[in-house]
Amino acid sequence: MTSQERTELVSPLADPDDEVVDAALRPKRLSDFIGQQRVREQLSVVLDAAKARGRTPDHVLLSGSPGLGKTTLAMIIAAELGTPMRITSGPAIERAGDLAALLSTLSEGEVLFLDEIHRMARPAEEMLYVAMEDFRVDVVVGKGPGATAIPLDVAPFTLVGATTRAGLLPGPLRDRFGFVAHLDFYAPEELERVLHRSAALLGVSLTADGAAEIGSRARGTPRIANRLLRRVRDFAEVRADGTVTRETARAALEMYDVDELGLDRLDRAVLEALLVRFNGGPVGLTTLAVAVSEEPETVETVAEPFLVRAGLLARTPRGRVATPAAWRHVGLRPPMDVGLRPPMDAGLRSPVNPGLPPPVQAALIDLVDDGGYDEATDPGDT
Ligand SMILES: Nc1ncnc2c1ncn2[C@@H]1O[C@H](COP(=O)(O)OP(=O)(O)OP(=O)(O)O)[C@@H](O)[C@H]1O
Ligand SMILES: [Mg+2]
Repeated sequence: MTSQERTELVSPLADPDDEVVDAALRPKRLSDFIGQQRVREQLSVVLDAAKARGRTPDHVLLSGSPGLGKTTLAMIIAAELGTPMRITSGPAIERAGDLAALLSTLSEGEVLFLDEIHRMARPAEEMLYVAMEDFRVDVVVGKGPGATAIPLDVAPFTLVGATTRAGLLPGPLRDRFGFVAHLDFYAPEELERVLHRSAALLGVSLTADGAAEIGSRARGTPRIANRLLRRVRDFAEVRADGTVTRETARAALEMYDVDELGLDRLDRAVLEALLVRFNGGPVGLTTLAVAVSEEPETVETVAEPFLVRAGLLARTPRGRVATPAAWRHVGLRPPMDVGLRPPMDAGLRSPVNPGLPPPVQAALIDLVDDGGYDEATDPGDT
């Protein structure tokens, strides 16, 4: 199985299909935006205060994993303010001149949405600091010692930056945002509400237990929930009477290889190799990747982030380790010494101590896990 062949049904990234549907399903106002209650409340205060003062609100930074609603919120901000919005992205700004051209044409109060802001070129970044703070850009004319900077005024605007990797943003840039909102993964109940809303917009008949079934497999991500809904709807139309019920959702998602936790084929292959071939680990990433005929990078960036978040796999200094929950997920009993063994390749067996009471074992396992897992380098978390 290669990464091209694997189902992308539970990828949080937008595919071309999603982009069309995403736009149709996006909530347009803050009151339609489901979940993220704290962010919603704080944002509504920021926007109301700015409106009451008749001034442009502070710059807003939205961070969170793909598919959680950053673009949606950016559009809502402009809609709530009743102002036009200009959209660009970090990779589109290759030179400072690109940014200068854009900033100098903004009209007063406009919202500038800068997606993937962490991928902007360095010189542009520096120009952006000044523009955010002083509403001014310095355009450099000429080269070498004769170069002069001509200051240009920029109309007061609100920058809305979005990033999946807040940790990659330089401090000076992050500090210039008056409001930083971090979007979290959604609870299953929130995803059910997202699903009911989307079903109504798409004209799909969806039962409460059908929504619960899809919501619990959507990895906490509205984009995945909406995508699963569309696939299950197709199935329900072809194989049943068109209504999405628990039964049709189950049958459809089984056919599409998405299990009860939202794991797909690759996720499960990794987990099963770890459990069955390496007895729960620890095992090195490369060895694990070879066992599932994948590139180490694919395993690390595609499968692992969710396995870690779901509490099924831990990264330790000695390698990947399955947690007791992983054993239970595939219907096996965890061995007593799970998480405490030396690496397989060392050819050693650990000093198994099945005599320890379970709480002590659990505490030891936690210690081992905490020692190894580095959040800052987790590609799926930030
Ligand atoms: N709070 C929400 N309520 C209802 N639907 C939502 C919510 N958040 C996201 N969605 C749905 O999920 C889809 C994806 O959201 P969006 O495009 O805003 O994600 P994103 O964070 O910008 O992702 P990316 O990092 O890939 O750009 C939207 O089209 C929308 O339909
Ligand atoms: Mg987006």
